[in-house]
Amino acid sequence: MPESRLEQVATPTHRIEAGPPLVEVRGVKKYFPLQSGFLASLFNRGEQPAVRAVDGVDFEIRRGEVFGLAGESGSGKSTVGRLVLNLLEPTEGKVFFDGMDLSQLSPDEMRRLRSRMQIIFQDPLASLNPRMTIGQAIAHPLEIHEPNLSEGQRRKRVLEMLEAVGMNPPTNYADKYPHQISGGQRQRIVIARALVTRPELIVADEPIAMADVSVRSALLDLMMRLKDEFDLTYLFITHDLATAKYVCDRIAIMYLGRIVEVGPLKSVYGSPAHPYTQALLDAVPVPDPKHRRTQPMPRGEIPSPIDPPSGCRFHPRCPIAQMGLCDVEDPQLMQVPESDNHLAACLLRAGPRAMGQQTPPS
Ligand SMILES: Nc1ncnc2c1ncn2[C@@H]1O[C@H](COP(=O)(O)OP(=O)(O)OP(=O)(O)O)[C@@H](O)[C@H]1O
Ligand SMILES: [Mg+2]
Repeated sequence: MPESRLEQVATPTHRIEAGPPLVEVRGVKKYFPLQSGFLASLFNRGEQPAVRAVDGVDFEIRRGEVFGLAGESGSGKSTVGRLVLNLLEPTEGKVFFDGMDLSQLSPDEMRRLRSRMQIIFQDPLASLNPRMTIGQAIAHPLEIHEPNLSEGQRRKRVLEMLEAVGMNPPTNYADKYPHQISGGQRQRIVIARALVTRPELIVADEPIAMADVSVRSALLDLMMRLKDEFDLTYLFITHDLATAKYVCDRIAIMYLGRIVEVGPLKSVYGSPAHPYTQALLDAVPVPDPKHRRTQPMPRGEIPSPIDPPSGCRFHPRCPIAQMGLCDVEDPQLMQVPESDNHLAACLLRAGPRAMGQQTPPS
């Protein structure tokens, strides 16, 4: 039997704490209103036309966990990341961090909370000020969040961080400028700057997508080592399921602003329930040329998030969709049969129908 990539899933073994989650996202929506104009008039059906970037999302992240968020471009991953950090305000729903409702915090409380959550973007060059030395860049968050540190204490923290991200000897790098180091090293600096205030949560938005292929796995290894060293929790955003496989404990798959499947990585990759997840996994290139079975993504374009399809948003592209059902009923996340903590929003593969029970007529 050919060994598929799915059977080789190595489950990461992170220390995940029981107890209340660090992050809770409840019924969150983010709509971006369209400017009035031609495009808006096309969609105007009485309600304010908007890009439904995130359209009702629920999940939680436990302390110590690496929670993946995957899906094609435009599915709403980065918007979710920004909502979690309160860089964007939800149109509807709530985000809790360590039990605190972010919408209820005063500006001062939010400022203090900022040091406990940080973001790493994909492009380190765009994230770093070309006129600041590496040392100044890493010291910057300390100036904001720990203004009482002396110059010497700040310098010490900067050198410690450089060492932690593998930039040795640190004194060789602190006074260099971003253009004097490689792209992979620049991403290490961005990571050092994110960690210098000792945050608990890191939102990593495609952190290795722009790195040279040769340094990607070293960056992932570094992020996982730092996770243990600094007791971090990650929201790991990626469009690349092969990357997610190496780092995530659980993963959520997004399509058009919704989570369509979520569960332990091993369960989602080993037995994907949602046809969209299955299509994404089939499209992952297999490194072994003997088993090159890459499938194209399913037929059709991704529909517009301004006017998503009725019923299940994936039904126009779905190979198993049943008309009269999937184009009418909007599926919620439901338990996948014989699974633990694995949910999918598919009327045929999860919930009562999939469990062999018919829903009573309403
Ligand atoms: N500020 C904004 N104003 C209007 N529309 C936006 C804004 N930010 C995001 N969008 C739209 O919301 C949708 C989701 O965008 P988002 O960046 O969250 O997707 P993504 O999954 O991160 O995609 P990618 O993989 O390309 O980074 C897209 O249709 C995008 O064009
Ligand atoms: Mg994005």
